[in-house]
Amino acid sequence: MAEHTIDTALCAESLPKHVAIIMDGNGRWAKAQGKPRVFGHKAGVEAVRKTVSTANRLGIQVVTLFAFSSENWRRPEDEVSLLMELFMTVLGREVKRLHKNNIQLRIIGDTSRFSQRLQKKIADAEALTADNTGMVLNVAANYGGQWDILQATRRLALQVLEQGLTADEITEEMMTAGLTTFGLPDVDLLIRTSGECRISNFMLWQAAYAELYFTEQHWPDFDEKSLVDAVAWYVSRERRFGCTGEQIQALMQKLQ
Ligand code: IPE
Ligand code: IPE
Ligand code: MG
Repeated sequence: MAEHTIDTALCAESLPKHVAIIMDGNGRWAKAQGKPRVFGHKAGVEAVRKTVSTANRLGIQVVTLFAFSSENWRRPEDEVSLLMELFMTVLGREVKRLHKNNIQLRIIGDTSRFSQRLQKKIADAEALTADNTGMVLNVAANYGGQWDILQATRRLALQVLEQGLTADEITEEMMTAGLTTFGLPDVDLLIRTSGECRISNFMLWQAAYAELYFTEQHWPDFDEKSLVDAVAWYVSRERRFGCTGEQIQALMQKLQ
């Protein structure tokens, strides 16, 4: 019985606090079925829903999804506008469900480039869920890790001017205070689907110590089992470090 209690506690403690996901492969998934890329993006929405719901049930504190990168503007104009439309529709449709589940939604990225309509929708969705105390869901839209660090640096430069600080007085905390993820734990587990093994300018600061998990699955195929597998893989890796101390402690108590 005692052993069982320790195991459960260890397991809950070993779960990643912050999971970030690069949702890749929508286009290839669609192409494999002879369908236009757009079809893949639409199918990807269902994978988002499953992922959010599973992460919430697992008790994960923060999920960050890469929805649109600052580099994605380079895609054909019709694909970009479709992605924007999809984003609008999904925001409108899903935000009530998020709210019902006590999830706090934040859109991180340079949203100033979006249409006024979309910006309004984003502000409304964030305001509705702002006081929710459950999982935090960051949706990275027009996001780039370099942009995130740059905008934090600009804020810091202003603070330095205003407060007349010297370079030596700048701390890591002052830097992270300006990042879009301020107040949230760093990324523990970074998942990328579709077989690519790169970070594509995502969470550059926040993923400094993240475990990197790459899967061949295309994003629209990512489901509950896929997330559970990734989390189990993370726990099995972390156990080597995180849990050894616990086990030694438990052993010590037994020996006393
Ligand atoms: C990821 O799928 C979704 C977005 C970047 C919006 P892709 O559209 O990158 O799909 P592939 O990589 O071309 O298959
Ligand atoms: C990364 O996927 C961005 C998102 C998932 C939104 P991409 O498919 O755009 O990345 P690259 O350009 O192939 O690295
Ligand atoms: Mg891609």
